[in-house]
This record gives sequence, structure tokens and C-alpha cells, in this order.
Amino acid sequence: MARWRLRRRSRSRWYAFLILLALAPVGIYYFYTEIRPTVIFGLREDYAHAIPFQEVPAGIDSLRAEACGECHQAIYEEWKTSIHAHAYTDPFFQAYWTKDQHVWVCLNCHAPLENQQPTLIQHIPDNRVEKAVQVENPRYDTAYQQEGVTCAACHVRNGKIMGPFDDSAAPHPTEYDPAFRTTAVCHRCHNVVSGPFQFYNVGPCGTYAEYEGEFFMKEKGFTCQHCHMPEISRPVADGGPIRQGRQHLWRGGHDPEMIKRAVAIQVQADPPDPEPGDTVTMTLTLINAGAGHKIPTGDPDRHFTVEFYVKDPSGQVVQEQTDTMGRWILWQPVILEVYDNRLLPLASRAYRFSYRIPEGRSDLVVDAQVRYHILTDGQHDMLRKNYGLRSNDPYRYTIYTRRFPLSNELAVALHAETGADSHRGCSVAEKSGHAEEAIS
Ligand code: HEC
Ligand code: HEC
Ligand code: HEC
Ligand code: HEC
Ligand code: HEC
Repeated sequence: MARWRLRRRSRSRWYAFLILLALAPVGIYYFYTEIRPTVIFGLREDYAHAIPFQEVPAGIDSLRAEACGECHQAIYEEWKTSIHAHAYTDPFFQAYWTKDQHVWVCLNCHAPLENQQPTLIQHIPDNRVEKAVQVENPRYDTAYQQEGVTCAACHVRNGKIMGPFDDSAAPHPTEYDPAFRTTAVCHRCHNVVSGPFQFYNVGPCGTYAEYEGEFFMKEKGFTCQHCHMPEISRPVADGGPIRQGRQHLWRGGHDPEMIKRAVAIQVQADPPDPEPGDTVTMTLTLINAGAGHKIPTGDPDRHFTVEFYVKDPSGQVVQEQTDTMGRWILWQPVILEVYDNRLLPLASRAYRFSYRIPEGRSDLVVDAQVRYHILTDGQHDMLRKNYGLRSNDPYRYTIYTRRFPLSNELAVALHAETGADSHRGCSVAEKSGHAEEAIS
């Protein structure tokens, strides 16, 4: 009797298990279609829609950047070299966009005018990107899409050209818009927010949130333009009066020189004049001395590595250490930011590396190196293998490298280092007292 009951109980457990197994795919399907959004960020009213269709303002022939360039040549030439001009054609964007099955919402920042988009969004049920009701856009201009964040995306509204001046004499209608002198022009696209079932501190391209209330905004009153659109005196249009304007350059992560402007680096050693047999500790301090937001910022793939290599005279690496600064996000099954060890403006972090110099050796050196990565090597391989990334655009660069002898010559090398150019901006940083915990 007891045995029979036991068998019956185990059989009913077995049934329960089978039912669960049968239901699992339904549950997973439901989770991925109804609960977890396919798009990695939430929608906010200002970028949920394209910038409405714009007509060509009176007095000019076309909205094309090239047409503006006929009179605003210097600005056009600068814009052409900027990532904004390539926000659609950018091979990294194209590869990731293919991975995300060409979902429409990406275009609202990467080719943001309705004139540049193949479909019109009629309705977005429950703010769910993948459920949007789309129809063909009869006024779609394929060639214009290639221009990415083009002049009109920032400047053309309702048949007028919006700008920072209230006294211009232009062949086209103009309107003074104070937003050009504030961060409001950048906010829409540079402050992606997180969505349901996503646990970030800030969204994936949430640069604005890292700037708001921090040193360069609060103490210095800098806008994004101060650092990303350098000031210049020149005619605004060819042949016009000289005015104070700004270069349309927007340099960032794709420009090693810009990265170098963001960081200050100091290296120290303890003891500074080691003998064979001593354990020497090298400390490399990385300071966010020149960026108005965290470094790295923007795309969550961006990261720095701080690397130490002990090498023998033949160049053979005998010991090495690599630390990473960035954010680490778990993408599945829910989006969860596991850590974010990026540096806020003026914050610093010390990276430590210890090495015991073998007895009798004074011919070893240590190479200290800092690199910036647009993507991880793994992501880069994945995009090449599966999503058609073909370009050979650089995706990581060395922004600092120095060699130090592991001998009593070390102090001299460190001293020479103190005078080196990499120290730009330290003085501001030292005063801040924002130093963070040390990493070893
Ligand atoms: C035929 C020449 C010409 C063309 C084409 C042209 N502009 Fe202008 N634009 C001017 C002149 C001239 C001014 C006034 C310069 C001044 O007052 O110093 C001006 C002024 C401006 C200003 C400043 C407005 C303000 O009041 O702050 C902006 C912004 C601007 N243009 C953008 C554009 C854009 C964008 C395009 C293309 C869609 C364009 N322009 C096409 C000649 C031109
Ligand atoms: C219409 C959307 C939009 C607006 C408005 C906008 N940006 Fe961008 N910006 C982008 C996109 C999209 C990218 C990334 C393009 C890419 O890498 O494919 C970008 C990239 C950048 C970069 C990074 C360059 C690099 O090398 O990675 C900087 C810096 C930048 N923008 C600054 C600004 C500033 C400053 C403003 C305000 C004056 C601004 N942006 C306004 C969409 C915009
Ligand atoms: C991402 C937004 C953005 C894009 C794209 C953009 N501009 Fe501007 N533009 C600005 C901002 C911000 C200013 C205000 C700079 C200042 O404070 O003087 C400005 C200023 C200007 C001015 C006034 C002169 C000056 O330097 O201030 C002209 C003319 C102009 N832009 C033309 C263009 C043309 C032509 C293009 C395309 C080739 C273009 N802009 C693309 C944001 C943009
Ligand atoms: C004090 C100067 C300063 C201010 C203010 C500033 N930035 Fe930057 N920004 C930098 C420097 C330097 C870099 C290069 C370091 C990096 O890419 O991590 C940079 C990088 C960037 C990048 C490139 C990220 C990438 O991975 O390619 C973007 C996007 C950006 N800034 C947007 C903004 C926006 C938007 C604002 C205003 C809210 C702003 N910045 C304010 C100095 C500044
Ligand atoms: C709200 C505006 C916005 C939307 C929507 C958006 N992006 Fe971006 N994207 C940006 C900005 C701003 C940057 C630049 C940040 C930086 O430089 O790190 C960027 C940068 C990128 C980059 C890095 C490009 C490079 O050269 O390294 C990729 C890839 C990218 N976006 C893909 C996408 C895809 C795919 C989608 C749609 C799923 C999308 N973006 C939607 C604003 C947006």
C-alpha cells in the first residue's frame, strides 16, 4: 500500500515536470515578446519619433549639406570629417544595426529627419518599439539618409534656419534659437534612457546624465560645445562679416588625440630605485582631467585597459597585468549592469602592479601602457563573422606608453616622466581631491 502511494506520488511529480517542460518554451516566448523588449533602451518622447518632415527653406535649392556648403564652406568641410556626417554609414553602426534587424528606432538619432527614413511610424502600442505600426514614407530620400546627422537635423525647422545669432543677414529665413548656446541641442540624442526590465545606472549612450551637475557644468559652466565645437572667429558665410562661431568637429572616441585630452596619467614607483631582489610596486594613476562626463562615455562597449609588461632584453614578456575600466553589462536574460568603474570628471584611480626583481637581474624593463577600445576584440570578431563588418577602421589605440628600467635608473626615468606631455590637466585634477580607491 505504502509502496503504491509512493509510486503514485513520484508519477504525479513526473507529470508536473513534463507539463513544466512543455510550458517552458511558451514562457520563454512570452518573456521575450511581451516582457523583455528587443531594443536595448527605453523610448522617450523626444526621440521616439523622427524629426518631422522639413521643406527646403525659401532662398536655397536643397536641404543637402553640400548645398549649405556652397556658402558655409568651412563648416561644411568640418562637418564632413565628423562622426555626425557618418552616423548612418559608420561601419560599426551598420554592423550593429544589422544585428538588431534594422529596427526603425535607431534612425531617429543616426539619420533623424523624416526625409531620411524609409517608413513612417503611425502608432507605437505600449511604447514597444517592435510593435510599431509602420507605413511606407513616400517622401523618403535614400541619398539624404546617407548624410546621417546632417545640417538640417539641427538647423532647419518649419521653413526657417535656426541659429545662434539674432542679427544675421542671410539669403534664407533665419530664426534666433537660444538652444544653440546650451546643451539642449545635444540632449535628444546623447541621453538614451533605460527601459522596462533594464537595470542600468544610465542608459547606453547617456552622456548627458554623466555631465549634469558635474564639475564642468556646475563650476565652469561649460556646455558640450565648449569642448566638442571649438570656438573660432571667421565669416559665418563666405564673404560675410567675421563673427564668433564654432567649428563643427565633434571629435570623440574615434580620435586618439581627443582621448589623450581627456586623461592625465601619473606613474610612481616604490621603491623608486630598486635593487635586484626587491619587490617594486608601480602605480599608474589615471585621471579624468579633460572630459565633461565619465570616461569612457557613450557606447557601453567603450573601455580603457591599463597594462604592465615586464620584459627581458630580448623583448620576451616575463610577467604582465591588465586592468579594465568601463562598464560590464549582462545582456541576457535581462539587461543588468554588473559594474561601472568609469571615472567621473576629475576623478582618478590608481592601478598598482608589483613585481619582485630576481636576484642578479638589472636588465629588465617594465612597459606601462594605456589603451582605449571602441569595441572589445570579441565584439569586433563577432561583427566581422556574423554581421558583415568589413572595414578596417581602427577600434583600439594606445594613448600612453612608457618604458621604465627595473634598476636604480628607475628614479631618473620617473623624473623625466614628470615633465612629459601626458600630464596635461593634472593641476585641475589634483585640486579636486576626488581620488578614488586604488586597484591592485
Ligand atoms: C546662398 C548662400 C547660403 C546658403 C546656400 C545657405 N546659407 Fe546659411 N547663411 C548665409 C548667410 C549669408 C548667412 C548670414 C551670415 C551672417 O550674417 O554673418 C547665413 C546664416 C546662417 C546661419 C546663422 C543663422 C542665425 O541667425 O543664427 C545658419 C545656422 C545657417 N546659415 C545655416 C545654413 C544651412 C543649414 C544651410 C543649408 C540648409 C544654409 N545655411 C544655406 C548664406 C547661405
Ligand atoms: C540627431 C541626433 C544627434 C544630435 C542632435 C547630436 N548628436 Fe552627437 N552623435 C549622434 C550620433 C548618432 C553619434 C554616433 C555616430 C556613430 O558613431 O555612428 C554621435 C556622436 C557624437 C560624438 C562622438 C564622436 C566619436 O568620435 O565617437 C560627439 C563628441 C558628439 N556626438 C557630440 C555632440 C554634441 C556636442 C552635440 C550638440 C551640439 C551633438 N552631438 C548632437 C547623434 C546626435
Ligand atoms: C549636431 C547639431 C549640428 C549640426 C549637425 C550642424 N550644426 Fe551648425 N551649429 C550647431 C550649433 C550648436 C551651433 C552654435 C555654435 C555657437 O555657439 O556659435 C551651430 C552654428 C552654426 C552656424 C553659425 C555660425 C557658428 O559657427 O556659430 C552656421 C552657419 C551653421 N551652424 C551651419 C551648419 C551647417 C552648414 C551644417 C552642415 C554642414 C551644420 N551647421 C551642422 C549645431 C549643429
Ligand atoms: C570639459 C570638456 C568636455 C565637455 C564639457 C564635454 N565633453 Fe564630451 N568628451 C570630452 C573629451 C576630452 C572626450 C574624449 C574622451 C572619451 O571619448 O572618452 C569626450 C568624448 C565624448 C564622446 C565620445 C564617446 C565615444 O565613445 O566616442 C561623446 C559622445 C561626448 N563626449 C558627448 C558629450 C556631450 C553630449 C556633452 C555635453 C552633455 C559633452 N560631451 C561635454 C570632453 C568634453
Ligand atoms: C537616442 C538616440 C540614439 C538611438 C535611438 C540610437 N543611438 Fe546609436 N548612438 C547614439 C549616440 C549619441 C552615439 C554616440 C555615443 C558614443 O560615441 O559613444 C551612438 C553610437 C552608436 C554606435 C557606436 C558607433 C561607433 O562608431 O562605435 C553604434 C554601433 C550604435 N550607436 C548603434 C545603434 C543601434 C543599432 C541602434 C538601434 C537599436 C541605435 N544605435 C539607436 C544615439 C542613439
